[in-house]
Amino acid sequence: MRIVSGIQPTGNLHLGNYLGAIRNWVRMQDEVAAAGGDTLFFLADLHAITVHNRPEELAANTREMAAALIASGIDPQKSVLFNQARVPAHAELAWLLNGTARIGWMNRMTQFKEKSGKNREGASVGLFVYPVLMAADVLIYRTTHVPVGEDQKQHLELARDIATKFNTDFETELFVLPDPIIPPAAARIMSLRDGTAKMSKSDPSDMSRINLADDDDMIAQKIRKAKTDPEPLPASPDGLEGRPEARNLVSIYAALTDQSVEQVLAAFEGQGFGAFKPALADRLIETLGPIRRRFVELKINHAELDRILEEGAGKARTLAQPVLDETYRALGLQR
Ligand code: TYM
Repeated sequence: MRIVSGIQPTGNLHLGNYLGAIRNWVRMQDEVAAAGGDTLFFLADLHAITVHNRPEELAANTREMAAALIASGIDPQKSVLFNQARVPAHAELAWLLNGTARIGWMNRMTQFKEKSGKNREGASVGLFVYPVLMAADVLIYRTTHVPVGEDQKQHLELARDIATKFNTDFETELFVLPDPIIPPAAARIMSLRDGTAKMSKSDPSDMSRINLADDDDMIAQKIRKAKTDPEPLPASPDGLEGRPEARNLVSIYAALTDQSVEQVLAAFEGQGFGAFKPALADRLIETLGPIRRRFVELKINHAELDRILEEGAGKARTLAQPVLDETYRALGLQR
């Protein structure tokens, strides 16, 4: 079993990233090691340049995101932690896979449609072929499982399509088909201002998300101001139909306490948000407070973070090289 996943180092880690992905990474780290497998986690800095970033900000954000992952529980002794740009095999394999990926497949990617918006012609070519790089990230390590939020599922299906076509076209079994691992309660954490929009780094309103860097008062304030409706909480999930904001807050509570939505509703049935919101804020502060305190300490130690990332990249380069060599060979490329 080999687990691989990545996160873009743009802005700060938010609650959606944490509950949708990072918490799962941390949980799997020990389980997978005990079963003789390994875990690799990376900062997707090569993905970040598909939109414009100020160079000094990208460099700072990459270190900060590494600190955020370690503060969340990723242990560089147990998992391979690195940034993509230090492992050139990712970009190299992406180019090699461009001959296999089809334009029609890319045209179906919903994230490209969302991110390019109305100005499709003005989007970077990188944003369009982004999913090929993501396929390379996973296929280069012959990954078996990829823990991600729901929004990345389509990209992983594409990675499977690319792997299948390559294996068929070049009569090889080189690439392993990766399976996504998506958490049940926290697959898609929504904005606190609009229960129909995903919680995201790119939302202009900071009140729409809980950031890892938010202090306890800020967390409490954001939950107090979160959009809701005047109805009390229902007895069963059916009663959340058509109430996206209520459903989102209950799902967050369920994920934080490792309960099902049913269990949370059983405890809060008939209560209004005046009672539910403070309970939710308390759970958030309990979970995020200790992570934030570790993050604040870690993020100032640039030399140590750079050392960790370089060491991780060394291990990743060693794991990636044989698959890259084999890909060149399969294609008949002379080197
Ligand atoms: P990114 O950086 O947008 O997000 C990192 C992880 O957080 C999850 N996530 C969410 N989960 C639940 N609710 C939300 N509101 C929410 N927002 C984000 C994402 O699903 C993701 O798991 N393309 C990827 C990074 C990447 C990658 C990879 C992932 C690059 N290469 C290879 C896996 C394997 C991305 O932009 O994630």
